[in-house]
Amino acid sequence: MANSLKDLIHRLHYSLPTARLIESAMPLTPWLKLWLLDDSNMDRPFSPEEVRVIWEAPPYWCFCWASGQIMAQYIEQNPEVVKDKVVVDFGAGSGIAAIAAAKFGAKRVIACDIDDDAIISCKANAELNNIQIEYSSDFFELIQQENDIDLILAADVLYDRDNIPLLTELRKNCKSILMADSRVKNLDVDGYSSFAEGHAETLPPLERFDEFKHVIIYAANGLKD
Ligand SMILES: C[S@@+](CC[C@H](N)C(=O)[O-])C[C@H]1O[C@@H](n2cnc3c(N)ncnc32)[C@H](O)[C@@H]1O
Repeated sequence: MANSLKDLIHRLHYSLPTARLIESAMPLTPWLKLWLLDDSNMDRPFSPEEVRVIWEAPPYWCFCWASGQIMAQYIEQNPEVVKDKVVVDFGAGSGIAAIAAAKFGAKRVIACDIDDDAIISCKANAELNNIQIEYSSDFFELIQQENDIDLILAADVLYDRDNIPLLTELRKNCKSILMADSRVKNLDVDGYSSFAEGHAETLPPLERFDEFKHVIIYAANGLKD
């Protein structure tokens, strides 16, 4: 077993000691596989300790969110958006958008997530999909080092409304942005406009509300030329 997968299982067991990861093909992009939570042995209530740990550090990375799936499908259908580009996947989680960008010809791909466990997840999933990507756990440090980011991808990062002001920062540091989101239906941020939509379900299934299966893709021009 690869070291990153061993590390990932170790981290998962910190929050959920009896949970397992399962290699999961994505329904909209079956060529893309991820290590996700196996919900087949989770048919019991969480213990109070598990609830505490999950709230303290939610393991977003062991789910694949609807927006990441729609973003990967969009990249497969429109590979020219990533071809030969330097791409950052902001809020990468499992790394689904980063993996799609690398598969469809990006020159370099950097998966960026503030959660160190998400970075381990991106590493394990990059290995699973036989692609090479780079990693960053701090977007502001990354933009100090990288002056030539062509495209920033962001999928389902607006669950935290504190990230909305960051959308303007993203624009300042790249040439273009694609953002997929299932929570904010009428984004009102200068420069961003919706241009496509799709439907997908978080995996393993989590959402009780159909509205969160409806994903909107927004685009913005970056302010770097
Ligand atoms: C709901 S998950 C989405 C993951 C993935 N993009 C997908 O679609 O499956 C959101 C991710 O964004 C990350 N995140 C949230 N705010 C962030 C920030 N300010 N900088 C970097 N990552 C962030 C979280 O740690 C989490 O992994």
